[in-house]
Amino acid sequence: MAVPRADYLSPVWRDGIFENKVVFCTGGGGTICSAQVRALVHLGANACILGRNIEKTEKMARSIATARKGAKVIGIGGADVRKIESLEQAVERCVTELGGIDYVIAGAAGNFLSPIAGLSSNAFKTVMDIDTIGSFNTLKATLPHLLASVKKSPNTGTNTSTGGRIIFISASFHFTGMPLQTHASAAKAGVDAIMAGAALEYGPYGMTSNVITPGPIAGTEGMARLGDKEQESTGAAQRRNPLGRYGTVKEIADGTVYLFSDTGSYVNGEVLVIDGGGWRSPGSFDGEKAYPDYLLEGQFARKSKL
Ligand code: HXC
Repeated sequence: MAVPRADYLSPVWRDGIFENKVVFCTGGGGTICSAQVRALVHLGANACILGRNIEKTEKMARSIATARKGAKVIGIGGADVRKIESLEQAVERCVTELGGIDYVIAGAAGNFLSPIAGLSSNAFKTVMDIDTIGSFNTLKATLPHLLASVKKSPNTGTNTSTGGRIIFISASFHFTGMPLQTHASAAKAGVDAIMAGAALEYGPYGMTSNVITPGPIAGTEGMARLGDKEQESTGAAQRRNPLGRYGTVKEIADGTVYLFSDTGSYVNGEVLVIDGGGWRSPGSFDGEKAYPDYLLEGQFARKSKL
């Protein structure tokens, strides 16, 4: 079913700017990444999305393809970013069927809430493997194609967008540390570091590497699973954000188009935080608890046996 453009893309972007370009996206079955890809497809790109769940990924590919008549969107289910061979196979299929890779979104992530005392080494490693090793594997497997894309479409100042760009999806909680998110914070800090290395090593070839850090985004599976339901239902969680609300997938998609189109041609090695200024929010003295009770009592404390 077609999703209205206004739900995933601002009207300011001109149709066709990504014509003949191909985007490769891990975690493409999820709410945020699928909106990013849908926006790029709407503006002319073809796409290959990867996910672990076969049915969900294929269904999402069909849905994204409705964003533009004639769009080609491949859904590769059963893909696991923890395994480099899985990515290499997907890259090969994408290049064979769509002709190359111009843009990459490394979006696959895994997460759950747990205090440090409740984390096994394997639990910590699992999230590091998905987020950090998965981002590295995605970069590694697509790099030759990103570099080829720069050669194929140098920035000539014409009206089509330059290729050879990668966006990693990270999170702001490692800037400050976050309770129950030590594993994910460590993993996302690694993602930012991979991005920085790629920006410095491959900038000289004309490739750009950046991170987008979404804040809490309304309607995502991550928020449904990990968000604090009680604080959300009272609006307290939203009010802690300087803009007083959660973000939308459209706001992340717009940031993606900015970085991939010629508007973002001089942005390299940057972390673009799209969170309404939320990560800077120091909590409040207005009676709303910035520090949740469940850290000290309830299910998480019981689980950690403290
Ligand atoms: C403590 C846990 C746990 C929990 C799993 N583990 N859940 N430990 N608390 N709630 C432990 C397990 O006991 C096991 O350790 C280890 O982690 C691996 O678990 P598996 O289930 O075998 O791993 P796997 O099947 O690969 O699943 C990966 C997963 C899972 C990350 C654990 O939750 C998952 O697949 N999630 C779906 C993807 C996802 O989370 N997307 C959301 C991204 S949102 P032991 O020692 O027992 O072997 C995001 C942004 C969030 O990242 C921002 C929101 C604010």
